[in-house]
Amino acid sequence: MLGVAAEKTWLLLVFLLLTSAAQVFARLIRKLQDAYARLAEAHAATERSLQHISSLYQALEAFSVQEDKAHLAHLLAAYAQKLCNCPAACLLLRPEAGSQREPVLAVCAPDGPSPRVNWAGVMQRIWARVEPGVFTATTLPAGESGRLLAVPVRSMGECFGLLGCLVLPDDETGPQREKALGFLANLGGIALERRKTEQLWARLLVSEEQNRIANEIHDGVMQHLFSIAFAAHALSEMHAHLQNGDVQQKLALVKNAANQAARELRASIYRLSPCRRGEQVFVAGLASYLESMAELNGIEVDFRPEGSEEAVSPALHKALYRIVREATANAVRHGKCTRIQVMLKMAPGKMVLQVKDDGQGFAVGRQAPGGLGLTNMRNLMASFGGGFSVDSAPGRGTRVTCVVPADDKNSTAYSGTGGIGVESRCG
Ligand SMILES: Nc1ncnc2c1ncn2[C@@H]1O[C@H](COP(=O)(O)OP(=O)(O)OP(=O)(O)O)[C@@H](O)[C@H]1O
Ligand SMILES: [Mg+2]
Repeated sequence: MLGVAAEKTWLLLVFLLLTSAAQVFARLIRKLQDAYARLAEAHAATERSLQHISSLYQALEAFSVQEDKAHLAHLLAAYAQKLCNCPAACLLLRPEAGSQREPVLAVCAPDGPSPRVNWAGVMQRIWARVEPGVFTATTLPAGESGRLLAVPVRSMGECFGLLGCLVLPDDETGPQREKALGFLANLGGIALERRKTEQLWARLLVSEEQNRIANEIHDGVMQHLFSIAFAAHALSEMHAHLQNGDVQQKLALVKNAANQAARELRASIYRLSPCRRGEQVFVAGLASYLESMAELNGIEVDFRPEGSEEAVSPALHKALYRIVREATANAVRHGKCTRIQVMLKMAPGKMVLQVKDDGQGFAVGRQAPGGLGLTNMRNLMASFGGGFSVDSAPGRGTRVTCVVPADDKNSTAYSGTGGIGVESRCG
């Protein structure tokens, strides 16, 4: 009897155990299915984001110097709306320093405009909070529609504006959203900086060509005119004894006409050639970059150019611009400096560039691996047959020196100026 009862109890226990195990399994399977569905959703979202990023990358690649900045603003606002998964996004681009233009504001709200959001007003209020050297995301109420999350669109040297997205009242700002917005803002900063650099190259190209034409006229036609005037003068002296008024008169006419043509040509050359007008396109571009980088990072930059930029080839101009950008970015990023001194000496056959900061410094040769900046600068200088050195020690600031001693026009490795490697000079 007792044995049968015990057997029944065992059976009951086994039954109970099996049912609870089945329940646990069923719950586990449900959880796994949920997790799988969430994973599939996340995967699809990642795929979508990657597709958006790749098409944005292509659009940015195609974005050229001729294109309107408003086009880029609309592009970035549209991608911000998609990638941040928000109802609307906007981009405010500030006018360039010294420009009379109005700021550009692009709003992307695919479900129709949000009349309750004063985009320009909120973005301007956020802009007023952007402090030099501080580049964090800011959130401000945007009426009843929610909040506006905005991040600066910037490069190392300039802050171009703000990219923002609208977060609904019941939605979260979320670190992912902030990251996506920051990523897009960085891409925009790179595209805008590239456009600005290309504009500088285009100006350099034009000024180089103008200087070349002016030099050609100076060395060619002008010299012929001087020869004509001189020959007419010599003839008139030689035949002074003939007392032939007619011949003397005609010779004076030739001489005066040649002198007048030479004077007019000289005036045209001065009008045509930026170098003869005393304009230094490269130096001015570099000065403008350093000025905005100083303002953006709240530091002092002392730029000391010496000599004429005509002594340096356009290819070297480009390399120097890249080196100054990298060295100053390192000084701010790694050195946390408060002051940078940029010294640039340009003389025929010798160029010296020195970028000195008062930052933390570092043990040269023992820096963390993986950085490309120092190697790139060294390689660039090597391609011009020049030297590159870094002097630094912890707590003693950093000094980067580049020297191109010989004629850099022999350089072969670096020629990115699209056919403007022509020698130029001002006579
Ligand atoms: N001016 C500087 N002040 C302090 N440390 C510097 C300075 N310049 C370079 N360094 C140190 O040298 C390292 C290498 O610099 P490098 O420019 O080659 O690479 P990176 O800046 O780290 O990365 P990347 O330039 O590729 O973005 C830096 O990580 C930093 O530790
Ligand atoms: Mg670097």
